[in-house]
Amino acid sequence: MFVDRVLSGMRPTGSLHLGHYHGVLKNWVKLQHEYECYFFVADWHALTTHYDTPEVIERNVWDMVIDWLAAGVDPSQATLFIQSQLPEHAELHLLLSMITPLGWLERVPTYKDQQEKLAEKDLSTYGFLGYPLLQSADILIYRANLVPVGEDQVPHIEFTREIARRFNHIYGREPGFEEKAEAAIKKLGGKRSKVYVDLRTRYQEQGDGEALVAARALIEEAQNLSMGDRERLFGYIEGGGKMILSEPRALLTEASRMPGLDGQKMSKSYNNTISLREDADSVTKKIRTMPTDPARVRRTDPGDPAKCPVWQLHEVYSNQSVRDWVQAGCRSAGIGCLECKQPVIDGVLDEQRPMRERAEAYLQDPTLVRNIIADGCEKARELAQDTMREVRESMGLRYT
Ligand code: TRP
Ligand code: SF4
Repeated sequence: MFVDRVLSGMRPTGSLHLGHYHGVLKNWVKLQHEYECYFFVADWHALTTHYDTPEVIERNVWDMVIDWLAAGVDPSQATLFIQSQLPEHAELHLLLSMITPLGWLERVPTYKDQQEKLAEKDLSTYGFLGYPLLQSADILIYRANLVPVGEDQVPHIEFTREIARRFNHIYGREPGFEEKAEAAIKKLGGKRSKVYVDLRTRYQEQGDGEALVAARALIEEAQNLSMGDRERLFGYIEGGGKMILSEPRALLTEASRMPGLDGQKMSKSYNNTISLREDADSVTKKIRTMPTDPARVRRTDPGDPAKCPVWQLHEVYSNQSVRDWVQAGCRSAGIGCLECKQPVIDGVLDEQRPMRERAEAYLQDPTLVRNIIADGCEKARELAQDTMREVRESMGLRYT
């Protein structure tokens, strides 16, 4: 059966906190059961902004992988690897750069936004301008069709789609395409051939999107096709040429806004985080010293949860009866703030306990983590090399 392939990357620029867990990792853990998943450490992407602090990257790569594992990303379900261990990404980035108009890169909104946001850094570099193209190479090299990302990354996925389309347009043309495609249909075999033709007709005449998806699945499942024929059949559904690179879709992670200790979004730059595996004493202390509704100066002053950052954490961690207890107790000054915070402390600690436990084995024996990554790299390399063979050939770089 044709299973969608999911790929996503994370930059190792700092240690992960509960915001990453609720915003990204929980979703990865869910996806790994539903799809074929590839998750990687985007260390080159980190270098585009942290080129002058390599120690930050070095420190964070392995910690980040441990955080993923701690959060429940399972190496027997998902493939985990490190970008720079697969130089194929760099080669594809280079080859795609040949056909990438400068204007496309300059127009990606994150380019100017990030330059302004990180004004203290000189980001007028070649590498930073190419950030979205490197990301495209990451995605296209695995022919991933689904890319789980946040809202801010959607322009990069759009950009990737445009690059794939341009690539196929330029390199997917070959002499005698139609004849070769027709021959490939025959190779599908009697029944499949007919289904393919019907689906193609439905798509072309009625714009039937389901027929397109079904036709792609049919090609994906066919066993006896060469890579070239596969690309021809993919391309032939829609029209004129081979589909060497496939266009991915963004899989939008529903915006789960994880509040930080001060009520703003949890973020390293606001200094309001609880890290993923932070020790229990430190977590307890951080929550106990959190600000509350400023109207509650004395224990006897009533408060309003709507004006209190602790309430936002109750919305993440507490069930309805605890929430009712907070609402009533706060407004009537029936409970004290420390009392109110206890269920939140318990909730965070309960959430972290299995994470700390899972991490323990990896901290004890770092070779476990190295092996997981080595296996993942090997698996990723097979796919990446397949794609690169096709890409090189289509660009006239065939020497054997
Ligand atoms: N740019 C992404 C981010 O900052 C990280 C990333 C790099 C990525 N390559 C990717 C995400 C490929 C998805 C797919 O979050
Ligand atoms: Fe905030 Fe709870 Fe104190 Fe009310 S009782 S101000 S919700 S911490």
